[in-house]
Amino acid sequence: MPAHEPSGAVKTTEAAPAKINLALHVTGQRADGYHLLETLVTFTEAGDVIHIQDAAEDGFSMSGPFSDILTRDDAGHNLVLKARDLLRQACGMECLPVAIHLEKNLPVSSGIGGGSADAAATLRGLCRHWELALAPAKLAEIALKLGADVPMCLASQPLMARGIGEDIEMIDNMPVLNLVLVNPLKAVSTPEIFRRLANKNNPPLGQRGDEPWMAFIGKSRNDLEPPARAVLTEIGEASTLLSEAGAELVRMSGSGATCFGLFDTMENAQSAAARLRQQRPGWYVQATKTIDGLPR
Ligand code: C5P
Repeated sequence: MPAHEPSGAVKTTEAAPAKINLALHVTGQRADGYHLLETLVTFTEAGDVIHIQDAAEDGFSMSGPFSDILTRDDAGHNLVLKARDLLRQACGMECLPVAIHLEKNLPVSSGIGGGSADAAATLRGLCRHWELALAPAKLAEIALKLGADVPMCLASQPLMARGIGEDIEMIDNMPVLNLVLVNPLKAVSTPEIFRRLANKNNPPLGQRGDEPWMAFIGKSRNDLEPPARAVLTEIGEASTLLSEAGAELVRMSGSGATCFGLFDTMENAQSAAARLRQQRPGWYVQATKTIDGLPR
């Protein structure tokens, strides 16, 4: 935290959970180039953390295993500052200077939210910190300006998103899933993966009906996985390692490169993660579980 912090300053902490696309179907493309999606999304205990406190002037700092990368490539932290600035523009006078600290635990440009989760957590955290009574629709509008995934990260609970990601339907009966996240620590460019997608009009996800969640997820796809695998061979490698470690289902999240494996118990997820860490010591490997909603 900066040295100029006033004593007794109000502090706000906001979780920025990782976003997992359990399924991601690309069903079309808009005239402006953005792709139409149907995506089943959940969030995990693993994530970044945003800390906010009153300060004499605005400030920004970072810590955590992936903060160095962000310092070199400032796209992610700019999204935090952009979120602060857009919210202040919308709300004006009440928004006093704040020092924002980002605990960067998630790999950057990795298909699990990252920058979007940080931006959404900044919006939620600042709304609480500044005691703003902003209409949810207005907050969602600001979120969408920051990126297609930011509105879903605002919710941070199981959901189905359509449109380019902004048309959100909450899901309240998804069981807790035990996962292992694996990322080879090579950044993937989302626009490039969308550009390389051969077919932009794929079959939709459809309705789950009474089908068990695992069966429904098992039948679905991530349409961005084939183009991402063509760009980065480590994605195929990560999937194979997760399968060999006993995952019931393995898939890539978002535009990659993070792959996730679903495990029947957290114990099995943890022992798979330990094995993967030994096999690929330089990679990001994290056992975690999904959340019903944001911690309060
Ligand atoms: O909205 P965001 O800045 O996160 O998107 C990054 C890029 O990913 C966009 O510029 C676009 O090329 C691509 N994208 C897309 N369709 C979406 C979401 C993202 O084509 N639904």
